[in-house]
Amino acid sequence: MLTLTEVADDPLLLTRRLALNDAPEVVFRPLVRTDADRLAEFLAGLSHESRRLSTFDGYGLATAQELCDAIARYDKLRLVLEEVPSGRIVGLLEFSLDLPPGDLARYREAGIRLGPADCRFGPTLADDYQGRGVGTRVFPLVADVARRFGRRRIILWGGVLADNPRAIRFYRKNGFHSVGSFTGADGLRSLDMMLNLDPLPG
Ligand SMILES: CC(C)(COP(=O)(O)OP(=O)(O)OC[C@H]1O[C@@H](n2cnc3c(N)ncnc32)[C@H](O)[C@@H]1OP(=O)(O)O)[C@@H](O)C(=O)NCCC(=O)NCCS
Repeated sequence: MLTLTEVADDPLLLTRRLALNDAPEVVFRPLVRTDADRLAEFLAGLSHESRRLSTFDGYGLATAQELCDAIARYDKLRLVLEEVPSGRIVGLLEFSLDLPPGDLARYREAGIRLGPADCRFGPTLADDYQGRGVGTRVFPLVADVARRFGRRRIILWGGVLADNPRAIRFYRKNGFHSVGSFTGADGLRSLDMMLNLDPLPG
């Protein structure tokens, strides 16, 4: 089973090239400490609507630097999609291996006991990469990462806003099912969704 330290020491463990139908090739790889500038460009480039659907603490260098400084220090694993050959970051795929008490309580109410075999996941693609099947193309790699960390289920990090039909469709078509809904601190309704992972072959 992989650990965050092993991935930080050897990002190639989770690095894969991916051919896309109508776009340049991309590399799926862990975020590395030298990514801050490129990650800042990715965050700064997100539209108002993308920021509404996928919220970060900030959208500039300070936040990008924080995310890079957090590598292997907490419970988070962040992967990026890097466009080849430009080197531009066009997606950020975030895992948390830890579950906050609020999530444990909400899922318990729905009759699901979360534990060490669960993780949280949240994707954000650059605006010009959304709605073209890229998320679905990448998803098997995401599921593999979770499996390699010994996880058997994935839940959505912070849920998905009920008025984000594209993301809800994306999750459903990649095997997630709805677990319930809740109203966040911002008063907006979100859905909790969960995926049961098939075991690794062999
Ligand atoms: C959510 C996200 C990662 C999905 O990746 P993606 O590459 O755009 O998704 P895909 O193109 O693989 O799949 C989207 C599906 O939604 C469908 N869709 C698109 N717009 C839709 C809409 N308004 N209503 C319903 N379905 C819609 C697409 O047709 C496709 O389904 P299909 O293949 O059955 O036709 C990406 O769109 C994204 O980063 N969005 C902005 C941030 C965000 O919402 N993050 C998730 C926060 S919970």
